Amino acid sequence: MSDKKAIIAKQIVAGDENNSIYKNSVVEIDGNKISSIKKKDEFDKSSFDGIVYNFPNLTLVPGFVQTHIHLCQTLFRGLADDLPLLDWLKLKIFPMENALDKDSMRASVQLGISELLLGGTTTILDMGSLRHHDVVFEELIKSGMRAFSGKCLIDVNDLYPDFKSNTNYELNEINELAHSFHCLNNGKIKYSFSPRFALSCTEKLLRDSKEMMKDFPGSIYHTHASENKDEINEVRTRFGKENIDYLDYLNLLGDETVLAHCIHLNDLEKNKIKDTQTKVAHCPSSNLKLGSGIARIPEYLEDGISVSLGADGAPCNNNLSIFTEMRLAALIQKPVFGPGAMDAKTVFRLATIEGAKALHMQDEIGSIEAGKKADIVLLDLENIYHPVADENIYSTIVYSSSSADVKNVMVDGEWIVENGTCIICEKDEIIVRSKNELQKLLKRI
Ligand code: GUN
Ligand code: FE
Repeated sequence: MSDKKAIIAKQIVAGDENNSIYKNSVVEIDGNKISSIKKKDEFDKSSFDGIVYNFPNLTLVPGFVQTHIHLCQTLFRGLADDLPLLDWLKLKIFPMENALDKDSMRASVQLGISELLLGGTTTILDMGSLRHHDVVFEELIKSGMRAFSGKCLIDVNDLYPDFKSNTNYELNEINELAHSFHCLNNGKIKYSFSPRFALSCTEKLLRDSKEMMKDFPGSIYHTHASENKDEINEVRTRFGKENIDYLDYLNLLGDETVLAHCIHLNDLEKNKIKDTQTKVAHCPSSNLKLGSGIARIPEYLEDGISVSLGADGAPCNNNLSIFTEMRLAALIQKPVFGPGAMDAKTVFRLATIEGAKALHMQDEIGSIEAGKKADIVLLDLENIYHPVADENIYSTIVYSSSSADVKNVMVDGEWIVENGTCIICEKDEIIVRSKNELQKLLKRI
């Protein structure tokens, strides 16, 4: 049976090498892949043996990629405001994650996935919590989203000692999880080895989890680094090294490693990230809200360091919108580097193809090109907020669009959001369940 679809759009912002923009064009899809991009006049609707979707007013863009997310924290939105990182973890986040059970984890993950998909994010790199990671995978699989995810590793915890595990137990757990879930769901689900940060792990856990990646080709190593000055001072006190130097000393850097934040780097550390092709996940909202600082992203890009974007978790943002991250990624640099820094086209690429590159998925996702997976977002930019969207489409998307402009989302050739509604999420049930689960969770702390 034919599994072909054709999407007619007002314009296609392809995000390919040439930053192609195709007006009045058609994306043809066969199964889970884009088979061609044609001018509307060259597309013969009558002889096409599939379903034709006609969106003459919508702009088609690649599915967005976020390379640092905590689905498990979505339930805690608004419950941990106005604190610096280490107090935020100690007083709020670790106690709440420690109180997650399977049901509250499920509610948190469902909330997060729904928000991300409704906002056009089709691929994430997610860090889980200490427990119940099977639930995270179950929900990711149900949702159809593309995701790298892995339980967070903690075997040292001076901030909140109840919230840690045993080194060998952790290593066994991730081995089992990776065996069970890596490359599942038509390859959409991959395992990511996720030590929480240098302060929460023994050297053995950091090294052995990195070593384990060899058994799971295509997996990613994902951790936090150099986010906050107190954090890096504590790393220096404990290990006698700068944060990135410490990770390098343990052989954890490399092009399969994604480091969230990387705000406070000296030049030597920056060079190590560059030379090892380690990837930086930039989280501007989180960096501002936790008062962590402003990463010198224009310099990283100038140096050729891979930078992509992530909303981090709901309690340090407090949204999971790629549009907010794009806008802030551009704006926060302008007072420091001048208004010409971080132009809209560059930022759009960080949210699409650069995210794909960070995950080694650039041949499969991140742009609209024949042969790539059909991860597609349709935006309605014909409204009161941007009636002249065509003049500079990147500017419109980065500076003045929002999740509310996302109308349709396809992952791997399947529609997941249609006309602004997530067809796989039971929205009302998720909201009721989340409220109940949060009340129960807060009583357990
Ligand atoms: N460092 C260690 N854990 C976390 C976390 O959950 N969020 C952020 N932003 N930084 C961290
Ligand atoms: Fe984080």
